[in-house]
Amino acid sequence: MKARLTIHREFAVGTVDKRVYGSFIEHLGRAVYTGIYEPGHPQADKNGFRRDVIDLIRELGVSVVRYPGGNFVSGYNWEDGVGPIEQRPVRQELAWMTLESNQFGTNEFAAWAERAGTEPMMAVNLGTRGPEAARNLVEYCNFPGGTGWSDLRRSHGYEKPHGIKLWCLGNEMDGPWQIGHRTADEYGRVAAETAKVMKWADPSIELVACGSSNARMPTFGDWEAMVLNHTYEQVDYLSLHIYFDNTSNDTPNFLAKNLEMDTFIKTVGGICDYIKAKKRSKKNIYLSFDEWNVWFHSKETDQRIEKWTTAPPILEDIYTMEDALVVGCMLITLLKNADRVKIACLAQLVNVIAPIMTEPSGAAWRQTIFYPFMHASKYGRGTVLQGAVNCELYDAAEFEAVPYLESTAVYNEEEKTMTIFAVNRNLHESLNLEAKFSGFEDLKLIEYLTMSHPDLKAVNSARGETVRPGPGPGGRIEGKSGHTRLELTLPAASWNVIRLGR
Ligand code: AHR
Repeated sequence: MKARLTIHREFAVGTVDKRVYGSFIEHLGRAVYTGIYEPGHPQADKNGFRRDVIDLIRELGVSVVRYPGGNFVSGYNWEDGVGPIEQRPVRQELAWMTLESNQFGTNEFAAWAERAGTEPMMAVNLGTRGPEAARNLVEYCNFPGGTGWSDLRRSHGYEKPHGIKLWCLGNEMDGPWQIGHRTADEYGRVAAETAKVMKWADPSIELVACGSSNARMPTFGDWEAMVLNHTYEQVDYLSLHIYFDNTSNDTPNFLAKNLEMDTFIKTVGGICDYIKAKKRSKKNIYLSFDEWNVWFHSKETDQRIEKWTTAPPILEDIYTMEDALVVGCMLITLLKNADRVKIACLAQLVNVIAPIMTEPSGAAWRQTIFYPFMHASKYGRGTVLQGAVNCELYDAAEFEAVPYLESTAVYNEEEKTMTIFAVNRNLHESLNLEAKFSGFEDLKLIEYLTMSHPDLKAVNSARGETVRPGPGPGGRIEGKSGHTRLELTLPAASWNVIRLGR
């Protein structure tokens, strides 16, 4: 099968915001305890942070980490998680029906994020709490000293303010499963008032208002419009969340699901612009896609988890080769919308629907989905170029006219390099790709990486990586005076990274 891709240097979508390579750590299952934090582990540092996990996070290239939830945040009293560890209370945690020991909290997270080379993104509780607790937390984290909350932080051993810039105003407040679930009107009002006082406490912060939990919510659309009606001038971003599954075991359909993500982004962007027009505002609202991933493998076993235990193994999806292809397609979708999506968080980071898994007291290892994320974060920095794709299409159960080739290109002006990320959705045939580039001088093929496996259900484990990328079959590149032509063969059902430069 053949595919043609045409890329022109002038056809730019937008600059990639490095924060699209974010992730998420919630107090959920083993994300924190025995995930990033395990005092007594042979790899733990003096703070109890697992160094083997930090090394993998650095390798993955995670720009920002959202914390502490998720559903968890809607019942969380942040004061429980600061101060002397031995005095912190154990709480019944109602979002996931577990026990929360509070051994890890805000200060540990800020210190850990610094160690992991990533930026913290905090969420405040707008389920059971409101403006006061939120503004106190901003003062505790960001004010230098000389006030009650900032001096409390200093007395807890953190002399310097954490300087946390990104804050989420609650989590999935449209969902009936949320502790303190609200209507759009109720949430919009409280979010606006909370935003106001948080920004008064620290005008340098940026705020994310909750959009819908997913595009299938009955209130989707109306929710966004109402929330923005209340918060437009106070907030900077609106959130989106999406999780895909293959419970029907229909792989061609599963591989097309990122098209739904694309529609979701475009629709929410349209609602933001509608409210902008209504308000005669000059300001744009950008998008924070702060939860996205594949999530379904663990749903059955999670039903059998005993309630009120500490850090049980919940949401521990073990990802397959085909999941990695879907994650690759989702990353491509985020990049294709670089003009609108400025923040995105792969949900989550460690153990809980995560690219990194750990064994308590044991090893840490990379899941299949680790690789597309790592490649995108490493090479997908610069300007996204809008390529024209010409290839055969297929119809799937939920989608019509799905191109077999999913791809995008990112040009790095400083390094004069270009990376094409591409998924061949054809499960049986390789794709003979002919790519034409205009407006670039002297492009050479630097590297071609590909990841595929004859068994689409193949997984990695602590015992070894069955699924990992390797060098792709050699290609042919030719051209002169600003026109380059590349020929490559993308294996059936593969994730591909094609790097070009001088
Ligand atoms: O990421 C797991 C959960 O999914 C989060 O806690 C919640 O926000 C979403 O429903």
